Amino acid sequence: MSDIRIENLVKRFDKTVAVDGVSLDINDGEFVVLLGPSGCGKTTTLRCIAGLETPDEGYIYIDGDVVNSLPPKDRDIAMVFQNYALYPHMTVYDNMAFPLKMRKLPKNEIDRRVREAARLLNIQHLLNRRPKQLSGGEQQRVALGRAIVRQPKAFLMDEPLSNLDAKLRVYMRAELKRLQKDLNITTVYVTHDQAEAMAMADRIAVMNRGKIQQYGVPIEIYNRPANTFVGGFIGSPPMNLIKASVIEKNGDVFLDAGYFLYNAGDVGSVLKEKIGGEVYIGVRPEDILLSTSSSGDSVFESEIYVVEPMGANMIIDLKLGGDIIKAVIPSTTGFYAGTRVWVGFRRDKIHIFDAKTGKLIV
Ligand SMILES: Nc1ncnc2c1ncn2[C@@H]1O[C@H](COP(=O)(O)OP(=O)(O)OP(=O)(O)O)[C@@H](O)[C@H]1O
Ligand SMILES: [Mg+2]
Repeated sequence: MSDIRIENLVKRFDKTVAVDGVSLDINDGEFVVLLGPSGCGKTTTLRCIAGLETPDEGYIYIDGDVVNSLPPKDRDIAMVFQNYALYPHMTVYDNMAFPLKMRKLPKNEIDRRVREAARLLNIQHLLNRRPKQLSGGEQQRVALGRAIVRQPKAFLMDEPLSNLDAKLRVYMRAELKRLQKDLNITTVYVTHDQAEAMAMADRIAVMNRGKIQQYGVPIEIYNRPANTFVGGFIGSPPMNLIKASVIEKNGDVFLDAGYFLYNAGDVGSVLKEKIGGEVYIGVRPEDILLSTSSSGDSVFESEIYVVEPMGANMIIDLKLGGDIIKAVIPSTTGFYAGTRVWVGFRRDKIHIFDAKTGKLIV
């Protein structure tokens, strides 16, 4: 049980700045997910916490103590990798017992811990098998078991579910979330899968190009993305971003997207100082309203380009000039490729970002 604090962490590889001033506070028992695209610095951040990389700048604290010069084995942290890294010639039991044997724990204590972890993970029946006699999901559990037996201060996990098929991944993420809460061990978990991050995290740190873009609870990141990167990275399909000029007409503020003019309404007062400038209108697919006749919410008329049935919902692709915008609506009849529809936005769900900085304005 421990809290972890990262302060202005910088890590360079030659000219590449892999981690560029990352600061994070992770509370005792918290499940924090580092989320971001390939190459954004997630693994490097994790390896710095583990002590497998030496920071060029900044500090890592565990339980309030700076650990920068502490070797990995003295940090009392367990890391679970994407490829599990099990020993092929050892049984499941011996794989799990190995880190405890290295620490020279008494045999009966080792046995107690291995059996307890096996019970938690539901792998008691596999203890005598070797890794190659296990499915991917079972191997994953053994790798977790080997981390759990150590009763470490924290778990660091680098895309531990990415080798599993889609169905097993969704199953295991719930199992892992439950296990983490039961054990109450501080966990830093790396993924590039936004759905996994949303489903599992107490808090998500969204990273891009070595920097934290936003750090918060999943629903806050979803509902109030700090910038266009976060808005576009979270959600599936992602948030639509429509470029528009801010103009004034008869004392009201409008957003002029070229293909439609949108009255900014209540937020017009906030946008007054942006008049003459450019913004992105951010609207999530589920916050787009479609109807076959014009109504008070209608903003523009468009033709359906493609309908993608998803089961309970369907994705409707709409052409807006040269761009496609995506709407998600409950599955219904009457919407086909070629159908003319009126398109509106849920007014209270609109986000406006500065086009230059990408930062959320309102
Ligand atoms: N040992 C290394 N030597 C040189 N460059 C490295 C090294 N490790 C990482 N990098 C570079 O640092 C940047 C961040 O890499 P990192 O592995 O942390 O990304 P990541 O977010 O984990 O990506 P992915 O999702 O692909 O695993 C990348 O540009 C990468 O090429
Ligand atoms: Mg990585």
